[in-house]
Amino acid sequence: MQKSTDFLVIGSGIAGLFFALKAAPFGKVTIVSKSTCEESATRYAQGGIAAVMYPPDDIQKHVRDTMDCGRELSEEEIVKMVVSQSRDRIQDLIDWGTHFDKNEEGLYDLGREGGHSEYRVLHHKDKTGLEIIRAMLHQAKKHPNIEILENHFTIDIITQHHLGEKITRQKKGIRCFGAYVYDPDRGKVKTFLARKTLMATGGAGMAYLTTTNPVIATGDGIAMAYRAKAEVKDMEFVQFHPTSLFDPLEKPSFLITEAIRGFGAVLKTPDGKEFMYKYDKRGSLAPRDIVARAIDQELKISGEDHVYLDCTHLDPGELKTNFPNVFEKCLQKGIDISRNLIPVVPAAHYVCGGIHTDKHGCSSIVNLYAAGECAHTGMHGANRMASNSLLESIVFANNAAYHAAYSLHSSEINRDIPDWNDEGTIVNEEMVLVTQSFKEVQAILSNYVGIVRSDLRLERAYKRLNLIYQETEQLYNKSFITTRLCELRNIINVAYIIIKQAMKRKNSIGLHYNLDYPKADQS
Ligand code: FAD
Ligand code: SIN
Repeated sequence: MQKSTDFLVIGSGIAGLFFALKAAPFGKVTIVSKSTCEESATRYAQGGIAAVMYPPDDIQKHVRDTMDCGRELSEEEIVKMVVSQSRDRIQDLIDWGTHFDKNEEGLYDLGREGGHSEYRVLHHKDKTGLEIIRAMLHQAKKHPNIEILENHFTIDIITQHHLGEKITRQKKGIRCFGAYVYDPDRGKVKTFLARKTLMATGGAGMAYLTTTNPVIATGDGIAMAYRAKAEVKDMEFVQFHPTSLFDPLEKPSFLITEAIRGFGAVLKTPDGKEFMYKYDKRGSLAPRDIVARAIDQELKISGEDHVYLDCTHLDPGELKTNFPNVFEKCLQKGIDISRNLIPVVPAAHYVCGGIHTDKHGCSSIVNLYAAGECAHTGMHGANRMASNSLLESIVFANNAAYHAAYSLHSSEINRDIPDWNDEGTIVNEEMVLVTQSFKEVQAILSNYVGIVRSDLRLERAYKRLNLIYQETEQLYNKSFITTRLCELRNIINVAYIIIKQAMKRKNSIGLHYNLDYPKADQS
């Protein structure tokens, strides 16, 4: 079955929806989303979205903080472009109906998080993502040019490879003609032909055993683009959020927003000692790579399995009003955060690398754009600053939408694309093998490619992953498509890229900390 559209958007998080709303005046937009349209990392975003709103903050300060967090590996021109657009893009969200909290003077109530030298984080309590998604989906659902297809899993993008051409990573002029999308309800793979395709599939936290990411975060877009020979960069920089709620029985892990530390909460060892000043003069509000590594170090010293976040000195009423989500969740676990310490532990949270794009969101494949967490734009360098992800997503989704719209005339639908060929495949009866392999990949990355790495650990990870890769490719080639099998294949691809790019980096910087190399920048 073939279907054609002007703009194919893969993903219904903040990046996909923002692009869709901006592109819709110029043509037909089809959004495919592998789960419900609400389900995404975006909906769980707590702390907020960074933007330069009022003095004493200014663009230069935000740029400097971002560069500092990114250990100067961010591209300064890109950071300037993103920060300079921040106010206008926030206005877009507000115009579409997003409510950000205001203070008594009627100004936006700005929060602060790790690495920020000013108060600049717009938020909606501690449920910012949910509010943004609510407003954007409301707009998208009523737009006559936007169609949203839920429970549609994209398997691969379509390029000349599917017309029988041999494609290598060196080849110039690879073109994207759309994507093959699996519809599990009908048990069919559909061919979506598009003039422009946006990858907005989010992150890959599911590559690790402990993550704040929802189950959809299996790195599908990065893996698809990599298989299609797009340039993928900086994947060694996997960010661990310092404070996920410690509960080995709960997966994914619940996030305790950094905004609580911006509000005054402090990290402590189990015997009640503040420890962050040993590691950084900014204490509990140092950038994430530093805080997560400090916690890792403290856990190694104490032999405990978590540290604590202390909010007990803060005003209980204000805690409850500003952080109702965290307050409620902890209460359900028997922790009253105004009286009890919160047990916390780092968890995989964000992948700074991804599909490399230019400032318009164009990937190295013609007519394929990328925005949001699956993209590598040059914004985050070696370590993303808190609340810069939602901002980066909307700026690049905006730029990509205009670039795609203005160049739409130059790309036609390719009607020669063959339908998906599943001849000779059988229904795989051994789903347990897929589940088992998934856990093995997670264990490999968690044990050998976590907060602290070494050459030996990376080598081990590579060898062990290789075996699972071979087994999974064999299984994939003979099996009829299932979402879970495709996700396994994708997470293996992503794990491979993380390991290979980590092996290539011969220093320790930001989120990549390798015991075998001198600390270029680490405190
Ligand atoms: P997502 O929002 O993850 O959306 C991805 C979409 O792609 C989903 O709709 C998914 O179903 C779809 N998809 C994936 N694969 C496929 C496929 N194969 N086929 C079809 N559809 C597919 N950042 C901030 O800046 N501020 C915060 O306060 C903040 N808090 C966070 C809190 C949590 C708990 C988490 C997990 C992240 C947080 N982040 C925050 C990071 C930020 O939320 C994400 O980086 C951002 O939301 C990513 O948006 P996205 O549109 O790229 O992807
Ligand atoms: C948080 O609220 O701590 C998450 C913010 C982010 O990931 O940017």
